[in-house]
Amino acid sequence: MSNERKFFVGGNWKMNGDKKAIDGICDFLNKGSLNSNTDVVVAPPYCYLQYSREKLSSKVQVAAQNCYTKKEGAFTGEISPAMIKDIGGTWVITGHSERRHIMGETDEFVAEKTRFAQDCGLGVIPCVGEKLEEREANQTMDVINRQMKALADKISDWSTVVIAYEPVWAIGTGKTATPEQAQEVHAQIREWLKKTVNADVAKATRIIYGGSVKGSNAAELAKKPDIDGFLVGGASLKPEFIEIVNAQG
Ligand code: PGA
Repeated sequence: MSNERKFFVGGNWKMNGDKKAIDGICDFLNKGSLNSNTDVVVAPPYCYLQYSREKLSSKVQVAAQNCYTKKEGAFTGEISPAMIKDIGGTWVITGHSERRHIMGETDEFVAEKTRFAQDCGLGVIPCVGEKLEEREANQTMDVINRQMKALADKISDWSTVVIAYEPVWAIGTGKTATPEQAQEVHAQIREWLKKTVNADVAKATRIIYGGSVKGSNAAELAKKPDIDGFLVGGASLKPEFIEIVNAQG
């Protein structure tokens, strides 16, 4: 990746863990040697966010996996970016494919919550990516450009955004995109930012890859010029996450 962009590795714990398991994860994160040139962020389930924050060293930042588009009010079951901040979270993931495809979140809703979370002072990790049938129908960039357009319509400050490219067919399947496949999409997202937003934003915005990243494939992916880090699911629950954090070499 370019030296101008700080490497960024996020661990998305999804709906996994209990206090005991989280104690173990925090322990290997706190003891592990983490490259200080890398932003390290973990996203526990909401109910363990504060617990994790209290256990983790300050080398590791904490994110929520989702949030709502309002500060407070009658929205049963939702949480606001202000609440995430209040308990020590500094980032939020938006538009993860599981939110888009299992919970039915639209491009517009994802963009709206991305902007709102930014306005509340959180860093945001919006996720984009195509499904297998879309890739097979050569629609990969149509889908990603549509998701990016919805985001760009709402975002005015890109300095607190880290884009995650996560091909849906690679998430939790063991099928990682090859470094070439990932690089190709990352370069096209950067080109899209250059054309649609501006050259400075395209150059400065980190684009991270997610989808079956492991200790064994992270270093090869990290060598690609437009891959600025990772969003890691399954492997972020295991000590090999440290290897991924340090994949930049
Ligand atoms: P995975 O998940 O690493 O388990 O494939 C990645 C993600 O969904 O963020």
